Amino acid sequence: MLPAFARATMHAIAEAADIGPEPAAAPGLNRTRPRPDLQALTRVAPRVRRRSSTWSREAGSAFEADSAGDRRPFPAIQWLGAVAQGPYLRCMAKASPKKRGYPAPGGRARVVRRVSEPSPSGYSVVDLFSGAGGISEGFRQEGYRVLGGSDVDPDAVATFALNFPGAEAVCGDIRNAKTRDRVKAIAERADVVVGGPPCQAFSQVRNYSRMIDDPRNSLYREFVRVVADAVPKAFVMENVTGLDQMGAREQMLADLELGGEYQVRAQVVDAADFGVPQTRKRLLFLGVHRSLQAEPPVLQGSAATASVTLVRFPGPRRTRYQVVVQENVLSHRIFDTLRDPEDVRIVTAIQAISDLAGLPVGRREDEIGYSELPEPESAYQRMMREGTGTELKNVQVPRINADTALRLKGVPEGGNYRDLSEELLERYLTGQRWGQDNGSGRLSRRHFYAYRRLHPDVWAWTLNTKGDSVYHYRHPRSLSVREFARLQSFPDRFVFATDPRKGMIAGRHDGGPAHSRYRQVGNAVPPLLARAAAAALRDVLRVKAVMARSA
Ligand SMILES: C[S@@+](CC[C@H](N)C(=O)[O-])C[C@H]1O[C@@H](n2cnc3c(N)ncnc32)[C@H](O)[C@@H]1O
Repeated sequence: MLPAFARATMHAIAEAADIGPEPAAAPGLNRTRPRPDLQALTRVAPRVRRRSSTWSREAGSAFEADSAGDRRPFPAIQWLGAVAQGPYLRCMAKASPKKRGYPAPGGRARVVRRVSEPSPSGYSVVDLFSGAGGISEGFRQEGYRVLGGSDVDPDAVATFALNFPGAEAVCGDIRNAKTRDRVKAIAERADVVVGGPPCQAFSQVRNYSRMIDDPRNSLYREFVRVVADAVPKAFVMENVTGLDQMGAREQMLADLELGGEYQVRAQVVDAADFGVPQTRKRLLFLGVHRSLQAEPPVLQGSAATASVTLVRFPGPRRTRYQVVVQENVLSHRIFDTLRDPEDVRIVTAIQAISDLAGLPVGRREDEIGYSELPEPESAYQRMMREGTGTELKNVQVPRINADTALRLKGVPEGGNYRDLSEELLERYLTGQRWGQDNGSGRLSRRHFYAYRRLHPDVWAWTLNTKGDSVYHYRHPRSLSVREFARLQSFPDRFVFATDPRKGMIAGRHDGGPAHSRYRQVGNAVPPLLARAAAAALRDVLRVKAVMARSA
């Protein structure tokens, strides 16, 4: 076992040496690489100085900053530079060439990676139950090559194929031998297998042994099967947290360990702690093959969700909601980070979508020129627009009926059905008949979920697969698929599509193309959350590669 200090610094060392698993795919320090974005770096690391074409600091002052901004010193390693990586700032250091794996004092070196530009990690990934490809997108952003994805839903596969043109998109039921064999063949070439098998029945049953045998839940066993056959270096399986509470986690852990072949760690994470403008709790299983002799990494987020709450203040005339940050050691930083539109570590709804507030309602065209939109108003919006052309897609805003619009006007920002006045709880307000009439003359409980408005100054509620799961914070309207996507941290260049074949085809869900696009976004793992897992795993894999080569 490495000493704790060496373990803590190994990823920085591997990063600095830029050593991937295959030498061909991982050149060493390279003068010709683009320089880091000076402004972005100095914004998060004001102490970094620029000297001619190099970035340097004296040995003894290199540090790594975690997502909460804490700096842990690396006392005796050679400073190379710093890089903002997703929501993190990573500072890099170099090992002595003679004593690989151990810090070397002194010296100057170059920054090797440009801010927010994906660079090849040398690793590859295959995505099971890929949906549109939220996990794949996160891994791609972290430099992995996406070899393929598979899903039973042809509409989701159409989106995956459109956005990952170099990958193999397999459409079919994974329980079907032909589909499984195709997926397995891709998985055998991949370093990492990822997937989010659906577990619909978890919230409905109390007995976990019955639950786990429910055919809707046993799909995770297909994931286990592919891992068992393909034996990747590592895997990530994502699932809902309901499963955690019901004790099924232990069963899944045992299954994923494959009799000791993998070391597996289960961790509950909230996407909002990873720079996603949405609270979304998920259970992640991270597994590392035993031959790597490494612990699965623990994902470190900002922990903002533990301190930030939206508090309801009923007033004589109108209720209002306010964001409250609990006082603790980190709270002033969380508060500042939350409010700062130039900080992408904790992102609010307004920082995510304010530039889209003026999207027209009910327009037929599903795209709009960026020239018709205001300039980006936050660092997050700039990040989302990176790599786009002149048009933004998936911008249609559905019409809502007059009753819903009236009710929304009666709900404050951040509020919900509880804030509706007695008059607004009447079943029909404008005389127009819509939906099911329950005969009571009042709005039924079934409709309550439908009146949730975002609060601009905090992250969004958890989105589900329906377009009316949340409404705009300012305007009485639904969100477009693009706003959904932004709140899930999909970049603007990621376009949601459907299979052009009409009608019901195998694997397609009812509801039409518009509904399918919302479903694809709502089902996804936020790419920035997946990216945090991808980065943590890549660090483990790289450290092991460095150690193997220096042995
Ligand atoms: C929670 S979603 C996955 C989302 C995806 N991980 C992402 O980040 O975009 C689960 C996916 O499993 C797919 N699925 C359900 N049953 C399946 C089956 N029998 N074979 C293959 N895919 C299936 C669904 O169509 C759905 O897209």
